[in-house]
Amino acid sequence: VSSGIRGVSSRSGKVEKLTVFGAGLMGAGIAQVGAQNGFKVILSDVTDKALQNGLNIISKSLSRIGKKTQPDDVEGFTKGIMDNISTTTDAGEAVEEADLVVEAIIESLKIKRDLFGYLDTKAKAGCIFASNTSSLSITEIAQSCSTERQMRFAGLHFFNPVPAMKLVEIVRTTHTSDETYETLRSITEQMGKSPVTCKDTPGFIVNRLLIPYLLDAIRMVERGDATPEDVDKAMELGGGYPMGPFKLLDFVGLDTASYIAQGWREKSGSGGISEEVVKPIPLLDRLVKEGKMGRKSGKGFYDVP
Ligand code: CAA
Ligand code: NAD
Repeated sequence: VSSGIRGVSSRSGKVEKLTVFGAGLMGAGIAQVGAQNGFKVILSDVTDKALQNGLNIISKSLSRIGKKTQPDDVEGFTKGIMDNISTTTDAGEAVEEADLVVEAIIESLKIKRDLFGYLDTKAKAGCIFASNTSSLSITEIAQSCSTERQMRFAGLHFFNPVPAMKLVEIVRTTHTSDETYETLRSITEQMGKSPVTCKDTPGFIVNRLLIPYLLDAIRMVERGDATPEDVDKAMELGGGYPMGPFKLLDFVGLDTASYIAQGWREKSGSGGISEEVVKPIPLLDRLVKEGKMGRKSGKGFYDVP
């Protein structure tokens, strides 16, 4: 892996500088694959503690990769990539020179809109904005920006764990320009990912199918039909899934799963998601209330060491 800056050429210039907002599970992963694949990356979050958490996620993942790819110099490999990442809590400063912004902050329409509305006043006119939202409307997030920026706005939906999952969904709104779309395709490919394209519909492709399944698995356990362990075993050994639904829920984050259901509930009926699919699940609400978010908090459906 080279740590030299390469970037992607588009008709409006080279995309070399990537700014990622949110240093959690997803933002850390996106910053890492950007830095591994020739982009100069700025990672931004609201606190230094959150930034440090992101850097820890990245360095753990890089040493895992380094142990396989460069076993003689894992430290050098990790440092070489990490040198392409700088951090700041100053959102305005983070985007001043950015060619591409990828937002991976909390799954809240209001907070995402507030952030993008502010960034729109600070970023270069040609900078592309992308959201990694799991379930919110890209069109509604983009409406916080100028009409010109809405042409340079799309969904860029990575999957967890970002360094290992090959898919990226590129979500076009009716305003996303062809040039923006083509540039995002090239960037995705440069990051070693495989893109699919979809319209701005709730959950895009994967989550539209995956989230109802995950929510139904919780209801199954809530009803007492089976234990999380047996549901996971059944779907791994009988359904061919790499992780059963409860391991996956802990992996994704129970708070994120709950925000997704809540967001869809508020818009119930739109986009073809029925009220039944997103009705509240007391077991999920209770776990989130107790701070049991899954792997990121050490406890979820399972205790995570
Ligand atoms: N950093 C770097 N590499 C990683 C990694 C990480 N964080 N996690 C896994 N890997 C790599 C491993 O090093 C390994 O690489 P090699 O094949 O080169 O050896 C490979 O991924 C497989 O890992 P493991 O052998 O350790 O373990 P595994 O075979 O059990 O795979 C897994 C781990 C890839 C996470 C697999 O369990 C899996 O695919 N789980 C399902 C994940 C999934 O469904 N994600 C989507 C969630 S939904 C979502 O993201 C959308 C949303 O909006 C909510
Ligand atoms: P996370 O809770 O791990 O991290 C979110 C980060 O955003 C935190 O570090 C938080 O401090 C930060 N943040 C909150 N408000 C901010 C702001 N105004 N400015 C900058 N940073 C801010 O969450 P995550 O799992 O990484 O999810 C992030 C986004 O990615 C969400 O939109 C989620 O739906 C989406 N997503 C999640 C997954 C998943 O499996 N977890 C997969 C794909 C997409």
